[in-house]
Amino acid sequence: MSDASRPIAILGGTGPAGMGVALRWARAGETIIIGSRDTLRAQETAGKIKQKAGNQASVSGMENSAACAATDLLVLTVPFEGQAPLLKQLKPAIRPGSILIDATVALAASVGGRASRTLGVWQGSSAQQAAELVPKGVSVVAAFHNLSAELLNGDNPLDCDVIVCSDDANAAQLTRALAAKIPGIRAIDGGKLENARILEQITALLVGLNIRHKGHGGIRITGLPPEAYK
Ligand SMILES: NC(=O)c1ccc[n+]([C@@H]2O[C@H](COP(=O)([O-])OP(=O)(O)OC[C@H]3O[C@@H](n4cnc5c(N)ncnc54)[C@H](OP(=O)(O)O)[C@@H]3O)[C@@H](O)[C@H]2O)c1
Repeated sequence: MSDASRPIAILGGTGPAGMGVALRWARAGETIIIGSRDTLRAQETAGKIKQKAGNQASVSGMENSAACAATDLLVLTVPFEGQAPLLKQLKPAIRPGSILIDATVALAASVGGRASRTLGVWQGSSAQQAAELVPKGVSVVAAFHNLSAELLNGDNPLDCDVIVCSDDANAAQLTRALAAKIPGIRAIDGGKLENARILEQITALLVGLNIRHKGHGGIRITGLPPEAYK
């Protein structure tokens, strides 16, 4: 289980997606480390989150490799074009046995295309690419692709389910528990990491819907037995 003694480091946590989950988990009492390529930017962002979350919140900022060295619970929220270079750079800093929760989506916007389209990734998805790049023994979990960063950075409960995919059942369970700490969210076991390819496609669909209808769409899965929802 996550607890205050196991900080959550958010690599690329200075962007809207990372800041949003950081804010919600800080409010839930988790210890947060904002990771960035730039220590000062990480510290400034941590200060902003603390201001919103309240003085009791535990949020600090570090350069990404220092953040990896400080904990074994990592969340990756960088644009797709930065994912592989960053993971290669961080490989020596990632602690053995770490969990890496990947929210990266291979949007075509990464190469100048539309954010409502995805790129083909040889491994099948960004999360599967991450699994190839992390040190041996590090578990990769795919989650949080379908949450609106704008809504995460607000104060209201979200109206969305988070589908969690991983080949490591314990890492997936911990991630579902973290997701359920965000008000309004139900976490659902989405099976193996290979299903991340579907989660990432849904993000592109949601981006298109948001543009078309001027909203902040999310997803709800209906009809499963109550125990399927965390
Ligand atoms: N925004 C959403 O609503 C949303 C929702 C679900 C999933 N996602 C996914 O989550 C990821 C992050 O989204 P975002 O909107 O927060 O992205 P973003 O603002 O473009 O980037 C997040 C952070 O990543 C770091 N970064 C940028 N380019 C990088 C590079 N080439 N190498 C290493 N680090 C780099 C930057 O931090 P520093 O400059 O401080 O290092 C930046 O603040 C994306 O893959 C996105 O598809 C986004």
